[in-house]
Amino acid sequence: MNNAIRLQYLAAMGINVWIPRIVAPVEQSLPVVVAEPELTIDQQWHNLRTEVQNCTLCNLCNTRTQTVFGTGNQHADWLIIGEAPGEQEDKQGQPFVGVAGQLLTEMLRAIGLSREEVFIANILKCRPPNNRDPHIDEIKHCKDYLQRQQQLIQPKIILAVGRIAAQALLDTNEPLAKLRGKVHTFNNTPVVVVYHPAYLLRSLSEKRKAWQDLQFAKQTVIAMEK
Ligand code: URA
Repeated sequence: MNNAIRLQYLAAMGINVWIPRIVAPVEQSLPVVVAEPELTIDQQWHNLRTEVQNCTLCNLCNTRTQTVFGTGNQHADWLIIGEAPGEQEDKQGQPFVGVAGQLLTEMLRAIGLSREEVFIANILKCRPPNNRDPHIDEIKHCKDYLQRQQQLIQPKIILAVGRIAAQALLDTNEPLAKLRGKVHTFNNTPVVVVYHPAYLLRSLSEKRKAWQDLQFAKQTVIAMEK
């Protein structure tokens, strides 16, 4: 019996026969993955520098003369982090080049480091007007750049210079007196806090404490190398 007749008989008996529809197979379209070529370290530095130069994430872009990216050895063991560019730094595009910067250079020299072998940067890449303290949103935006600098440099130690840098880096409101003399961490890198040279210029009696802080930082690195 052919199929059509068989269906007629079944229909006459009140039996509904479900005939499967032929479903066309759905073509599986897999997303095309184009492999991104991996960026070299130099390309990553270049991209980061360009991003910072063109940054408009906060209002400081309207008042800066230029951004201050940071300078020094891109493979440094020591990453020195200050607060923000001041007047001279904003003019010259380099961190710590004013009077406080000269004292910082001397402080580093005292523990056997030259400016060329460390990397010096700031929490903020742009000068706050009249050197006011950085605002929370400015720190938030800029900290990402700093984090990327740290990831590229992979320093053995970070020296947080002054209360504002230390508090911003470590996400704390603790006073500097409580932060110094301890090893903290930022993204798994040890952080030691030291007095800001601008503060030392105002209160020379604290110079001895600054010397202790630097020695402590140096000892921290030596202990890590053992
Ligand atoms: N003070 C800082 O914290 N950073 C500078 O670059 C200059 C002064």
